[in-house]
Amino acid sequence: MSAGKPYSVTGYPSLDSTHSRALRDFPGLSDGAVITALRQDAGRGRLGRTWLSEGKGLYFTIVLKPAAPRPEVFPCYTHLLSVSVCAALERLGLSPSIKWPNDVLCGGGKICGILAEAVSEGGRPVGAAVGAGINLSQEPADFAGLDRPAVSAAMLRGGAAPDRGAFLESVLDAFFALRPALEDRGFPAIAGEYRRRAGFIGKLAKMRPASGEVLEGTADIDDGGQLVLDGPGGRVSAAGGEMEF
Ligand code: BTN
Repeated sequence: MSAGKPYSVTGYPSLDSTHSRALRDFPGLSDGAVITALRQDAGRGRLGRTWLSEGKGLYFTIVLKPAAPRPEVFPCYTHLLSVSVCAALERLGLSPSIKWPNDVLCGGGKICGILAEAVSEGGRPVGAAVGAGINLSQEPADFAGLDRPAVSAAMLRGGAAPDRGAFLESVLDAFFALRPALEDRGFPAIAGEYRRRAGFIGKLAKMRPASGEVLEGTADIDDGGQLVLDGPGGRVSAAGGEMEF
């Protein structure tokens, strides 16, 4: 463990992906192990996308192996990490918001993406790997060619990039402070922290499930952390997918 902390950080100059490394090494890693790298050659985003990781961001994955795994809570590790990244950005004077399911937005663009995967051993759910890529020191030119607006903390702070190590600690302290309550009581334990940063709640939103037709309605989040859309045809909910609002 990092002195007095419920987590232990191992840093690498370069990896293929902190997430891939965490999953490969999962059986031998302890609960609370955190893997971070200055660069990733094969950074992974959601839905098979690539996460550009050329050394100007913070890239890390947390290994979670709860003593009494509750698989229904695993998807909410994404929500908890969103809240924790927001809390750390707020400490820098920024005003981030959460876009369900896995983005943190700030100043009109995406500043953080989150990737989470449940892990089973012998058919039994044992835990999860949850990671984030956070834009720290990129300049606008670094984001040229992306299909959606992106920002870095430096772009929003007059060029001042946060210290990578201190920022990671700030995120992890927030995450591990709320983790016991989440694992004990599920999403309702963090719903207040989540909802006050969830810019999509109450907005008219569209949801694109992996397959099937586009759903539309007023967005909210339920007690399981799922997106709900109240539309003309009634209420629909979704555990994952793409949302636009
Ligand atoms: C997304 O927005 O699609 C999620 C991006 C997640 C990127 C992070 S960077 C650290 C960790 N390792 C990876 O390969 N991916 C995640």
